Amino acid sequence: LNNGLAQTPQMGWNSWNFFACNINETVLKETADALISTGLADLGYVYLNIDDCWSSKTRNSEGQLVPDPKNFPSGIKSLADYVHAKGLKLGIYSDAGAFTCEVRPGSLFHETDDAELFASWGVDYLKYDNCFNLGIKPEKRYPPMRDALNATGRTIFYSICEWGEDDPALWAGRVGNSWRTTGDINDSWASMTTIADLNDKWAAYAGPGGWNDPDMLEVGNGGMTYQEYRAHFSIWALMKAPLLVGCDVRNMTAETYEILTNREIIAVNQDSLGVQGRKVNVTGTDGCQQVWAGPLSGHRLVVALWNRCSEGATITALWETLGLESGTSVAIRDLWQHKNVTGSAVSSFSAYVDAHDCLVYIFTPLTLSQSAI
Ligand code: DGJ
Repeated sequence: LNNGLAQTPQMGWNSWNFFACNINETVLKETADALISTGLADLGYVYLNIDDCWSSKTRNSEGQLVPDPKNFPSGIKSLADYVHAKGLKLGIYSDAGAFTCEVRPGSLFHETDDAELFASWGVDYLKYDNCFNLGIKPEKRYPPMRDALNATGRTIFYSICEWGEDDPALWAGRVGNSWRTTGDINDSWASMTTIADLNDKWAAYAGPGGWNDPDMLEVGNGGMTYQEYRAHFSIWALMKAPLLVGCDVRNMTAETYEILTNREIIAVNQDSLGVQGRKVNVTGTDGCQQVWAGPLSGHRLVVALWNRCSEGATITALWETLGLESGTSVAIRDLWQHKNVTGSAVSSFSAYVDAHDCLVYIFTPLTLSQSAI
């Protein structure tokens, strides 16, 4: 969507994956404080996004949405002021249907009123869900909210959440700043790997202004190992997915913190070229030894060796699968070790990868072919 936002994928935090409906203004404020004190905000995680369950079950007599008086007694405007004072941005949630998934009022046919209300509160981001949609096609339900947000005069990030049901990559580039390509993630290896593969299919449609969204991060929620979370974060970054943290950032382990604050991996995600990396080669049983790669600015490449097998394995990236001319010499940087790999490679690169782990490298060509110059 051409609203000036999402030149790189959005980064921030969302309440759903950890808190679900157990949210209130204290948790949100403490999370804002933690984004600052942990340094996550300085690394780019600036959106504090409230998901479902912030609203009362009914609209007021004027037909307006009302924050739940028990959990949000000070209202959303006050929360927006709180997060803005810290240099953060506030996201809110509604639904392109009669109700949200947790049966709060939806915004279908209330687009103008609700967009004006969100803008008056100082909201910076809207996630727009797909429950109770009355069987109306998403191509009809999502553009009215884009237009209503635009008409407010406030610049508001528009996140389309129709779960990939109607191949949104094919139409949502003109409607929103990101679009979900799949159903909900859960905190498991099976869910994370399945979603990565589903999102990969739409790589060609992502770019500055609009990104494929394979759903929010589960890093730190406890259902995957350190290696699996490292793979999750690596592949989401390489796929130019939104990096929306989904754990309780007030209580992170050292491992969770190390993963989410890896500046070199974040820089891959936020690279100015804005091209989604893809799965470029598979070998091994059921294709469990995988190479994922994509171009970065400055003629560089990001290359991930992802071992989805249940045993450790040596994985090889061949120049031909990376689109590099044979004989091209590259310098290699290891983004998890934070070290340059000694020597340079000229036709392939191999490394041993533990089960379910993912190693990520930046390849910088030292000799450019005539066409690349
Ligand atoms: C479905 C969405 O896909 C989730 O991300 C979350 O927003 C829930 N609805 C909330 O009800």
